[in-house]
Amino acid sequence: MKAQIESIKQAALAAVSAASDTQALGEVRVRYLGKSGEMTSLMKGLGALSKEERPEMGKVMNAARAEIEAALESKTAQVAQREKEERLALEKLDVTLPGRQPARGTLHPITRVREDIVRVFLGMGFEVAEGPEIESDLYNFQLLNVPKDHPARDMQDTFYVNDSYVLRTHTSPMQARMMTTRKPPIRVVIPGRVYRSDDDASHSPIFHQIEGLAIDKHITLGDLEGCLLAFAQQMFTKDTEIRLRPSYFPFTEPSVEVDVTCAICGGKGCRVCKGTGWVEILGAGVVNPAVLEMCGIDSTEYGGFAFGLGLERIAMIKYGIPNIKLFYENDVRFLKQFNGEVEK
Ligand code: DAH
Repeated sequence: MKAQIESIKQAALAAVSAASDTQALGEVRVRYLGKSGEMTSLMKGLGALSKEERPEMGKVMNAARAEIEAALESKTAQVAQREKEERLALEKLDVTLPGRQPARGTLHPITRVREDIVRVFLGMGFEVAEGPEIESDLYNFQLLNVPKDHPARDMQDTFYVNDSYVLRTHTSPMQARMMTTRKPPIRVVIPGRVYRSDDDASHSPIFHQIEGLAIDKHITLGDLEGCLLAFAQQMFTKDTEIRLRPSYFPFTEPSVEVDVTCAICGGKGCRVCKGTGWVEILGAGVVNPAVLEMCGIDSTEYGGFAFGLGLERIAMIKYGIPNIKLFYENDVRFLKQFNGEVEK
């Protein structure tokens, strides 16, 4: 029996020294010292020995168990220490490394300008609405006093979808949609994408406008002027001035084009304002009574003003951007320049 004990002990010690991690050591413990482990089974055989042999053999066995136990313990401590070091090395965090800055997106300049303009008009009591980009001829033209075959259609280079539908050439059809569905008073601005067959450094076939409409009793051209002056001073600088020049739009009477003092040179004359000190920013006017009547509003009781401006144009003036195409290329070197501006 002694020899058996000795051979199990040697095998156990060899297994301990071969085990290289905590899990393997656990397995060695179960195999030799566990409830049905090799050493434990041998122990059960003690009962079969004679009274004289039993204590002697018990001693030998306990000594062997103790030796295996000690080897296991010291190897476990050693392996645990090594595993801890490995884990620490793996999880090492160098707090002195510079932080990694995630790339931050910014608002597109057109989005920013749209939000700025909308905010100014919300402050003046206007609400915001949106409308369809594929628009019927009825709303895009006819209800705005541009009948079929009217020469004023030439003012807008239209993309026709078919005989009755167009890609809206302006946001003005939403005026008619508002007037035919709402009761005055109405105060609304309508931002949106519009389409024209036109393409050069300051024109793009797809661009953006904001339409404005105010319908109420006793509205005059003076209200329009006051409203647009307040807008221009909040959008550009506090001392910006505006001027109204006579113009023609079928849906307004009288119609005006509105200029602001050049934001770049402050009115002294520069490249952007072509030396005049003024830049045109929008078209506007007093809503034509014919339009009111076609949209079901009594023109003897109500009047109104309307205006329409191009977002790209405002952004180009405000930021001194020379070519409209820069807005659509999404070159981050261009977009990044509006970084600081975005933080509110
Ligand atoms: N719809 C016109 C355009 O796109 C702009 C415009 C002019 C809108 C006068 C208006 C207005 O509401 O009253 O050129």
